[in-house]
Amino acid sequence: MKDQHICCSAPGKIILFGEHAVVYGYPAIAVAIDRRVYSIVKRSDYNYPVLISENIDAGRAYRMDVTDSIPHEFLSLHKLITMFAKYFSNNDYPYISIKSDLPISSGLGSSAATSVALTKSLAEFYKASFTLEKISAYAFEAEKIQHGMPSGIDNTIATYGGGIYFKQGEIEKLDINLNAILVVADSKVPRSTKKLVEKVRKFKEKNPQIVNPILEKIGEITNEGVEALKTNNINKVGELMTENHNLLEELGVGHHKLSEILSVFTETGAIGGKLTGAGGGGCVVAIFDNLNDAQQAINKLEHQQGIKAFNTYISTKGVTCESVFCDDN
Ligand code: MEV
Repeated sequence: MKDQHICCSAPGKIILFGEHAVVYGYPAIAVAIDRRVYSIVKRSDYNYPVLISENIDAGRAYRMDVTDSIPHEFLSLHKLITMFAKYFSNNDYPYISIKSDLPISSGLGSSAATSVALTKSLAEFYKASFTLEKISAYAFEAEKIQHGMPSGIDNTIATYGGGIYFKQGEIEKLDINLNAILVVADSKVPRSTKKLVEKVRKFKEKNPQIVNPILEKIGEITNEGVEALKTNNINKVGELMTENHNLLEELGVGHHKLSEILSVFTETGAIGGKLTGAGGGGCVVAIFDNLNDAQQAINKLEHQQGIKAFNTYISTKGVTCESVFCDDN
């Protein structure tokens, strides 16, 4: 019998401006990058859904009709699988493999990209017609399990791709043609978005007079960032990114490893840079106006600190079904 394999993917992201402030209704700007998460679905041979992720628990297969024995990273995906089973059951169960080009828990949106790619592939599996809006809404439900009170920016950019200006759930597409090289370095310092968002929330509750002006300033930087991006003013973009980073440090989500990486970026000619995502570890992004300097930064980070960095590009490709292919068995 021929069995269908459905492969859908969604991009990771970089937040150029506005993380954390976006949780409180201020704007943020995110871009999709050329690294993706893939969700490959076929019919399960068992009478329950199965999930494998090459990055979690060495690719061990888990049955997904129960929650007690699955890794906590799978809880949000369990939510999605259950939502589909409830509304679209057809007596077939999905067997899902997740593959990823993105490091996990590093600020590059791997959890949102996974939820978005999984949603699209399950919609195809159950032959349900899903708009982009609906895919993003489903993935947002999963993000809430993973991150507590997320703003929704991560699932939105993973769904639509390109660049977006995001404010209170509303999006404006940005046509970004930044004539610059983006370099991302992964500090490998583990952190949790949920805990960092919670940390800022507590700081804000206890010290609104300190935190509210910082969030407001971040919002202003984001708005200035739109203008700088629209006019391809990379010096201004870099300057604003660095300012945004300093404000994130004031919010308490910096880390000395991130500062060390940023120093190497500055020494090698970066125009500006910042942490991206929730901070507390994870990735740093910097912009360069030439490939030589960018390459020098990548080499220096690797040789001096053993840190892997890479060039990345803004990708207009949002969630997509890459292929549907058949296996003879
Ligand atoms: C996470 O990528 C960005 C945060 O602003 C959280 C959120 O927006 O949900 C820290």
